Amino acid sequence: MPDIGYLNGRFSPLGEISISPDDRGFLFGDGIYEVVRAYHGVPAFWDDHCTRLARSAREIYIHFSFEPKAFHRLLLTGIQKSGYAEGKIYIQITRGVAPREHGFPVETKPTVFLSFREMNALPIELPGQGVKVITVPDIRWGRCDIKSLNLLPNVLAKQQAQEAKVFESVFMRDGFVIEGSASNIFIVKDRQLQTPERNHFVLAGVTQQHVINLAQEQGRKVQFDTITLDALLGADEVFLVGTTIEILPVVNVDGKIIRNGIPGPITCSLQQRFANLVAQL
Ligand code: PDD
Repeated sequence: MPDIGYLNGRFSPLGEISISPDDRGFLFGDGIYEVVRAYHGVPAFWDDHCTRLARSAREIYIHFSFEPKAFHRLLLTGIQKSGYAEGKIYIQITRGVAPREHGFPVETKPTVFLSFREMNALPIELPGQGVKVITVPDIRWGRCDIKSLNLLPNVLAKQQAQEAKVFESVFMRDGFVIEGSASNIFIVKDRQLQTPERNHFVLAGVTQQHVINLAQEQGRKVQFDTITLDALLGADEVFLVGTTIEILPVVNVDGKIIRNGIPGPITCSLQQRFANLVAQL
């Protein structure tokens, strides 16, 4: 089965879709996106992704009225057409097509683009063995809570990680841990979970929220709080979360070994509970 795309009302093989060079997503990064996992044919946590997509659109004044249930049916159709029950769905909405002028065009309809691809699982050993990360300065703008298309700093940070032969770069702003280039981060200290406080500098992660729920169901305390580099380096456990990585233990930060270099028990139990959660979707 081919990778499937959807553009403004029509499904077709992904390779046959072309987008106007005047699309503002292409010219300005003037748009927003979501990445949704399909597990056994079910788009995971759609309500959360849909709510965030609608919020991102609102925050940048893209007027796109969508009905969550109708959009859900669209996702199911795409999954079915692609045949990828274990899939990665990309949703991008831009301000639309118009001659290049910075200000908003009048009467331009948003471009709605989706792609349905097979989920490429992470190297099998990573969730069990854990990954290394480096910290990098956060050079992004002041509204990282919006899932906008402007990902150049994230791209550069991920490339920096790859060149350092580690899995992820973790952004630091004003001495505090923020998030990964495409992930949220947790630390565990004295059996309590901490994740950076939610504000305009961090994406409110869908996976992050589900991990918080799972931890709280286990009776664990979870705190949104500022995390210093010292706290990160001195944590009992560290892990990354995100749609494409689920829960990944971190065993090394900036060359410093965390917890003897072995994933911790709380991280492992959350991985197990998360696997159960998505199996039941
Ligand atoms: N990004 N923070 C950033 C900067 C991200 O890009 C992502 C995910 C997350 C995790 O959010 P969630 O659990 O809702 O996926 C946090 C997607 C996967 C991407 O850009 O590909």
